[in-house]
Amino acid sequence: MGKTIGIISIKGGVGKTSCTANIGASLASQFGKKVLLVDGNFSAPNLAMHFGIFDYESTIQDALLRKTPIQRTIHKYSENLHLIPASVEGRAITDHYRLKDCLDPLKEFYDIVLIDSSPNLHGEILSTMIASDELYVVTSPDYPTLSTTIRAVKLAKQRNTPIKGLIVNKIRNKGFELSLEEIEEATETLVLGVVPDDLKMLEAVSKTAPVTSHAPKSNPSIEINKIAAYMSNSEYKDPRFLSKFKSLFLKKDLRKDEVNRVINKE
Ligand SMILES: Nc1ncnc2c1ncn2[C@@H]1O[C@H](COP(=O)(O)OP(=O)(O)OP(=O)(O)O)[C@@H](O)[C@H]1O
Ligand SMILES: [Mg+2]
Repeated sequence: MGKTIGIISIKGGVGKTSCTANIGASLASQFGKKVLLVDGNFSAPNLAMHFGIFDYESTIQDALLRKTPIQRTIHKYSENLHLIPASVEGRAITDHYRLKDCLDPLKEFYDIVLIDSSPNLHGEILSTMIASDELYVVTSPDYPTLSTTIRAVKLAKQRNTPIKGLIVNKIRNKGFELSLEEIEEATETLVLGVVPDDLKMLEAVSKTAPVTSHAPKSNPSIEINKIAAYMSNSEYKDPRFLSKFKSLFLKKDLRKDEVNRVINKE
């Protein structure tokens, strides 16, 4: 029996879809997991585009509105990676429990069902929260995003949906950015992944390929793999020379997210 993981944020454009697409691809291709990606952004969907899928007969809205059985909306991208797209012309969904009802029976067939949430507060994000066994909140290291991340965490706590942790995306390692410690302290939530702001991410989108296959040795790919390894309880070693060098010779402290992943491993 698999689990459903919601990737959420209240702020638009922080990287929910990028994280969902790339972590999903990594889970399937690097760690051999059977993965279903679901576009839960009913008003502005684009998850399928990350995989170059533009043509599909039915969508998540068709299942939510009881026009099509949920099984018929599943698009097989590869053996291990399946996807349910959303329609760009989809109608608003008012029954927030419907997504859970549709996805729960599918958990039997997948190790992980990943939902790409909309930032739309109270509406679509609620559908993702209700349908998810656990949540990851995507954020970035700046005050405007942090303020919405605090709200997202509060909302999830009110709904009793467990938050596994934060993914801090688009990090540039500049002095003016919020530190991982500051983000954790303000949100009272662990940082479990860090993805750098990197042109390879944009390049991958332009090639309609996951970054882990477009640029497998790039920094974002390796960080994405680390998050996917954590999510699926799998082993993964950072293959970068500098990382091995640091741990062997420099005795450098581990980054906050690295420590959290080690301590919180299930
Ligand atoms: N780590 C990254 N480095 C560089 N660009 C990135 C990174 N993550 C995401 N982006 C880019 O930022 C933009 C927004 O990303 P994305 O669509 O994943 O955000 P989102 O949170 O899903 O947005 P929305 O709330 O509208 O659904 C995209 O152009 C994406 O390619
Ligand atoms: Mg999105």
